Amino acid sequence: MDYYSDCVEKLENLRKRDDYTVLAFESSCDETAVAVTRGRKVLSSVISSQIEIHKRFGGVVPEIASRNHILAIGKITDEALAEAGITLKDVDVVAVTYGAGLLGALLVGVSYAKSLAYSLGVPLVAVNHIKGHMAANYISAPELEPPYICLLASGGHTYILEVNATDDMTVLGETQDDAVGEAFDKVARVLGLPYPGGPEIEKKAKEGKAVYALPRAYKGEKHLNFSYSGLKTAVINLVSNAKARGQEIDAADLAASFQKEAVGVLIDHTAEAVRRTGIKTVTLAGGVGANTALREGLVKAGEAAGARVLLPPKKLCTDNAAMIGVCAYEEIRAGAMPAKLDLDADPAL
Ligand code: KG4
Ligand code: ZN
Repeated sequence: MDYYSDCVEKLENLRKRDDYTVLAFESSCDETAVAVTRGRKVLSSVISSQIEIHKRFGGVVPEIASRNHILAIGKITDEALAEAGITLKDVDVVAVTYGAGLLGALLVGVSYAKSLAYSLGVPLVAVNHIKGHMAANYISAPELEPPYICLLASGGHTYILEVNATDDMTVLGETQDDAVGEAFDKVARVLGLPYPGGPEIEKKAKEGKAVYALPRAYKGEKHLNFSYSGLKTAVINLVSNAKARGQEIDAADLAASFQKEAVGVLIDHTAEAVRRTGIKTVTLAGGVGANTALREGLVKAGEAAGARVLLPPKKLCTDNAAMIGVCAYEEIRAGAMPAKLDLDADPAL
């Protein structure tokens, strides 16, 4: 039997079980990550972050990211296997992020995972990075099942989703321009804070008060969408006008004002989604989900709207491979087929 037909058969058998072992890879941006998962359990999760490398450039340099993924991926794989107490012989499925993300960065994970799956003769499962972020909630809340509302707030995406099944989701709200994480990163740059901007704005905001009047990133009327470019431009204009007049800007106050509006609209619209759908569970996903103001506000507003709000730990909000392994398990449960060996990275997935 050829490799692919063999994998189709193997995956059909695994589908009925939840005790098989997944080796998962994530390399879509600036973290090289490998994890071993079994069902919704994480046996190991290793992350090699490139933040320090990209800091001096004020953002991720794609070419440098790809090269560092190549340097790290073998060593991180060995570490993940050792930490889980298994060897390659114990791996039943290889999972990998194939998009969205940086093309060169994705290709490192995809190529590595393909070769490994083929040489081990096990099925390869291709995972959408965004669905991976959402699956982080299954790790911290193993009893979670659809339907639920998911607020997905990352560096590249901002969505409110109604999840009715692994393969049945409806977009209730989405950004019309910048992603919320992107806005955090751009505003941080204007305020002279280092990359990545999100956590730096959060730190700075703690020292200040939200005294600057800024436009809300789309107050919900009929829709539950967002727009971050107006808010971002308002901050940029405020800073440059003050500079032109020789006035001082209080960076801490401005960070607090920006954060209040940036997360405020996410909280309001998610609570509104609960009221409109009657769905009583809210989950949070994506890097901006590590923001304390967002987490606290979401719990308050979600509970006031009658929902329970599940928050994955901050480490599971930012990029990791454990969420990719568990997402692969959910996809397999929902009937996913193995990926073919001509699987390509899809930066705009
Ligand atoms: O989900 P993620 O790790 O990567 C993408 O898939 O995009 O998200 C990264 C984004 C960055 O924009 C980063 O600044 C933001 O998440 N972020 C935060 C915080 N931690 C990370 N934004 C606000 N507050 C935080 N604590
Ligand atoms: Zn991500």
